[in-house]
Amino acid sequence: MNGNQWRAAIVAGFFALTLSWIAFVPPGEAADLGRGGEIYKLMCRKCHGRSGKGDGPKAKSLKKKPRNYTEPGFLDEHPDAELKKVVIEGKEPMPSFRKKLKDKDVDDVIAYIKTLAGGGK
Ligand code: HEC
Repeated sequence: MNGNQWRAAIVAGFFALTLSWIAFVPPGEAADLGRGGEIYKLMCRKCHGRSGKGDGPKAKSLKKKPRNYTEPGFLDEHPDAELKKVVIEGKEPMPSFRKKLKDKDVDDVIAYIKTLAGGGK
């Protein structure tokens, strides 16, 4: 093979790799935990606390304290779809994040919360 053919082969190889990667990553696992953590730190930690126990600095002044995510069974009782709904729509006194977070952001931050939570399947 000459230089151009090699180049074409390499490009084709990368293309095939990328395609197979996209095809084999299940949608639920593509969430970006690093980004989820950043969002959590910025928007959620003040109420939900650093480790998700519902003990953030702002929690004390709320009329209802956030749930402790780290309690066993939390994830069993709260399927992803329900967590997502609360984040998008809010649940007094938690505000709605519909305007602040994109759908993908919500998925990322929920994936992060799940790393804090205990007792999931
Ligand atoms: C102003 C404080 C506050 C902020 C900010 C906040 N939350 Fe909440 N959150 C709460 C409270 C209080 C509850 C409990 C509501 C209830 O049980 O009725 C709650 C409930 C939840 C629930 C549902 C769990 C359950 O027990 O049903 C999820 C999921 C959640 N919050 C995620 C988030 C995420 C993600 C963010 C950041 C994007 C966030 N929260 C920001 C106060 C807050």
